[in-house]
Amino acid sequence: MAKLGIRLASFIILFSFSLSFNTSLCCPNEQKLALLQFKSSLFDESSSNSSLDVALGGVASWDSSSDCCQWDLVTCNTRLTSRNVIALDLYSFISSLAPEIAVSSAVLEPLFQIRSLMKLDISSNFLQGKLPISGIANLNKLVHLDMRDNRFNGSIPSQLFSLRKLQYLDLSSNSFDGVLSGEVGTLRDLRVLNLDENFLTGEIPTDMGNLTQLRRLSLRQNTFSSGISKSFLQLTELEVLDFRNNSLSMEIPTDIGSLSNISTLALSMNQLTGGIPPSIKRLSKLVTLQLDNNRLSGEIPTWLLDIKALKILNLGGNNLTWNNSLPLAPKCMLSQLSLRSCRLAGPIPFWISTQKNLDFLDLSENELEGTFPPWLAESNLGTILLSDNKLMGPLPPPLFQSLNLSVLALSRNNFSGELPKNMGDTTSIMILMLANNNFSGPIPNSISKIYRLLLLDLSKNQFSGSTFPSFSPEALLAYIDVSSNRLSGHLPVNFASGTRILALGENEFSGPLHPNLSHLSQLEHLDLHNNYITGKLPEFLTQMSSLEVLNLRNNSLEGQIPNALSKLSSLRILDLSINKLNGRIPANIGNIEGMIKSPSTFTSISDMFTFYIEFSDLILNWKKSLQGLSSRNLEIYYFLDLSQNQLSGEVPTSMGGLTSLKLLNISHNKLSGSIPLSFGGFESLESLDMSHNNFSGKIPWTLVNLQQLGTLDVSNNKLVGQIPMGSQMDRLNDPNSYANNSGLCGMQIQRPCPMTASPESPPRSEVTKSEDTWFSWNGAWVGFPIGFVSVLVSAYFLGYLTLTPRRRQHRSIRK
Ligand SMILES: *[C@@H]1O[C@H](CO)[C@@H](O)[C@H](O)[C@H]1NC(C)=O
Ligand SMILES: *[C@@H]1O[C@H](CO)[C@@H](O)[C@H](O)[C@H]1NC(C)=O
Ligand SMILES: *[C@@H]1O[C@H](CO)[C@@H](O)[C@H](O)[C@H]1NC(C)=O
Ligand SMILES: *[C@@H]1O[C@H](CO)[C@@H](O)[C@H](O)[C@H]1NC(C)=O
Ligand SMILES: *[C@@H]1O[C@H](CO)[C@@H](O)[C@H](O)[C@H]1NC(C)=O
Ligand SMILES: *[C@@H]1O[C@H](CO)[C@@H](O)[C@H](O)[C@H]1NC(C)=O
Ligand SMILES: *[C@@H]1O[C@H](CO)[C@@H](O)[C@H](O)[C@H]1NC(C)=O
Ligand SMILES: *[C@@H]1O[C@H](CO)[C@@H](O)[C@H](O)[C@H]1NC(C)=O
Ligand SMILES: *[C@@H]1O[C@H](CO)[C@@H](O)[C@H](O)[C@H]1NC(C)=O
Ligand SMILES: *[C@@H]1O[C@H](CO)[C@@H](O)[C@H](O)[C@H]1NC(C)=O
Ligand SMILES: *[C@@H]1O[C@H](CO)[C@@H](O)[C@H](O)[C@H]1NC(C)=O
Ligand SMILES: *[C@@H]1O[C@H](CO)[C@@H](O)[C@H](O)[C@H]1NC(C)=O
Repeated sequence: MAKLGIRLASFIILFSFSLSFNTSLCCPNEQKLALLQFKSSLFDESSSNSSLDVALGGVASWDSSSDCCQWDLVTCNTRLTSRNVIALDLYSFISSLAPEIAVSSAVLEPLFQIRSLMKLDISSNFLQGKLPISGIANLNKLVHLDMRDNRFNGSIPSQLFSLRKLQYLDLSSNSFDGVLSGEVGTLRDLRVLNLDENFLTGEIPTDMGNLTQLRRLSLRQNTFSSGISKSFLQLTELEVLDFRNNSLSMEIPTDIGSLSNISTLALSMNQLTGGIPPSIKRLSKLVTLQLDNNRLSGEIPTWLLDIKALKILNLGGNNLTWNNSLPLAPKCMLSQLSLRSCRLAGPIPFWISTQKNLDFLDLSENELEGTFPPWLAESNLGTILLSDNKLMGPLPPPLFQSLNLSVLALSRNNFSGELPKNMGDTTSIMILMLANNNFSGPIPNSISKIYRLLLLDLSKNQFSGSTFPSFSPEALLAYIDVSSNRLSGHLPVNFASGTRILALGENEFSGPLHPNLSHLSQLEHLDLHNNYITGKLPEFLTQMSSLEVLNLRNNSLEGQIPNALSKLSSLRILDLSINKLNGRIPANIGNIEGMIKSPSTFTSISDMFTFYIEFSDLILNWKKSLQGLSSRNLEIYYFLDLSQNQLSGEVPTSMGGLTSLKLLNISHNKLSGSIPLSFGGFESLESLDMSHNNFSGKIPWTLVNLQQLGTLDVSNNKLVGQIPMGSQMDRLNDPNSYANNSGLCGMQIQRPCPMTASPESPPRSEVTKSEDTWFSWNGAWVGFPIGFVSVLVSAYFLGYLTLTPRRRQHRSIRK
């Protein structure tokens, strides 16, 4: 027995000896050298940055004394006669560890010497510059080439198209430009051509039609325009045709039905016109049909539902119509259906109940009437989007017993009644949007039990009651909008500690700001306007350093504005108007960093929810009228509104340093002294209201520097002297803006000034301007381009189905 054991052991030793020392089983020396050269050029690239030494963990095992077939990220073939490197998996190999480091694409050149490569994956590495041309043609055994998600630019080298064995080519998410050359046509064995997310422009080339082996053609997210060359109709082996998000303006070719192997036809987000061609009927293998967000018109043919294989039907966002009174017996089993804005009238179509596998239903922006059907409430859908219809009545309780429902959007209908008490039974809802309906009664306490809830929009309803659900600090709920209801009682403060948006405005909440608000340490947006909040502006507010928007407009706050307010360095919208604040404006108010320089990146409210932009319109006083600002565009606004308080004393000079401000309103206070010269520093200011104060002295001539100024009001003060002239000031000639002062003069109010030259005037010779000049200004002034971006609703849900999940994936991968 012992003998056998020894034999066995020596056999194993011998075997492993021959594995590691038989040189013909090692990778060829020149391949090892190429890899080592690649490794060292990476370090050369980054020699200035020692952090990369740590970052490139993956190549730590690459050292010259060992067999390169044993290295991490390297795969060799397993033939006994010879070993060659056949695959390099360098996916996210640099970026995940050192995302700030950009590495030149030239580092790839050594890899192009490894002729045996069949698979090269260098995706997600932030390699930048042109794709190196030299050597790439060597890789003629390459079957799989993945270069997506780098920073390659320039044109795609034609050498790439000599790699005849390629079956998989992904160049997406780069910055390639230029038109594909005719040489694409030589890739006769290509099965997959994926050029998505680049900046390829022009027409899709005719020679594409020569790639007769192609099974998968994706040109997604480029800017191909004008048309698809019909040559692609020769690609009869095609299974996947993806042209989404280009600028194609043409009709869908009538003979598209000749691509009989097609299972995915994805043409979303183009400018396609015409109708849905009848030949699609012949595509018996069609599983996915995505034609949404184009300009297709006409009636949607009901035979689409006779395609047995069809699972995903996405036609929303066109000018298509659906005749909801046709009797239907679908032969397909859909999992996703979007008939958004297809002019569906009448009740929610009953045939949908036959679709037992349905998971996603979007019937928003139609003219649907009637109540929420019981069969829909009991179906096990994951997503139900019925916003912007005319549906009414209460929500059936079974809806909230679903285990699958994760998105429910019913905004802008006429639903009414109380929310079912059992709401919390659904544990799966992540997004619940019921805004702009007629719901009443209390907000059910059980809502706080929905532990996956991320976004809750109950705004613009008739909810009432003085008890608000109490959310645990560990809850996921980050976006809450219950504004414009009739909720009362003390301001609720029990929210998730990760809350980012809290909108409780236009309710009847009362009492002081509770210190527990400061537990919301990630709060970016706090909107409590139009309530009955009393007490002082508490010190703890100044420690909520992530606040970007603070709206306390129209409450009953009193006392002074805390000096420490300027510590809120991210603040860019501050509205404290219509309160009873008194004392001076803090001298250091000019230090609010967020209002000084426009930060390059905001943690945008809707980062995670690009597809739900209807959420939370913030109401602010913009140019003297209340307007809704889409929360999606909030990052472009910089407001400071302290109007209608009892603030007194002089305005601090520092205020003029808030160079990003677009609106400043300090009207209706008791401010006195002169207007600081520093106000000439508001280089972005579009609206300035200082009316109804006690300002005295002259209007500073520096105001002529405010090139963006479109609205100025200094009325009802004690100002004297000449209104500054020149530049934008000449056009601000509404006499009401200067009324009720102690002796203003100037062309704007057509009251000539006495000829005594003013020492404060700019060196410019405005006095010599002839009188008819300023009269002619009067008529010429039509409108000022205010750069106000109106609420964008048109992009609603654009690309939700496919793009958003993908984006999220990317995000998590990069982290
Ligand atoms: C190495 O392995 C090959 C193939 O298994 C064999 O032909 C050759 O004799 C071996 N060489 C040595 C030195 O063991
Ligand atoms: C080096 O890396 C640090 C972060 O690790 C980065 O801030 C810096 O810009 C890099 N320097 C160079 C020269 O790339
Ligand atoms: C490509 O990127 C490199 C590095 O970022 C840059 O220097 C070069 O100008 C870019 N070339 C083109 C054509 O955009
Ligand atoms: C594509 O095919 C057409 C017709 O067969 C031919 O004239 C053309 O040269 C081909 N293009 C390439 C790049 O091979
Ligand atoms: C469409 O492509 C453009 C770039 O061409 C990109 O900026 C945009 O985000 C894409 N849209 C969607 C919905 O993917
Ligand atoms: C379509 O697919 C089938 C099965 O995969 C295959 O046999 C056939 O050759 C393909 N091509 C055409 C034109 O039908
Ligand atoms: C939509 O289609 C109808 C015909 O079906 C046409 O009359 C109408 O002008 C189209 N509207 C738009 C905006 O294209
Ligand atoms: C819808 O179909 C019904 C039944 O076929 C028909 O009577 C009606 O005219 C159609 N409506 C429209 C707008 O085409
Ligand atoms: C709904 O959930 C059940 C179990 O939770 C799951 O088996 C089923 O596949 C889901 N249905 C859909 C359409 O996702
Ligand atoms: C909304 O529904 C109520 C009944 O619940 C009805 O009285 C009212 O007229 C409806 N409003 C609209 C705008 O349809
Ligand atoms: C809300 O419902 C009430 C009755 O429940 C109805 O009188 C009222 O018109 C509805 N409001 C709207 C805007 O439809
Ligand atoms: C404030 O928070 C403390 C502990 O974090 C808690 O005990 C207290 O009940 C909270 N107060 C209110 C009014 O929610």
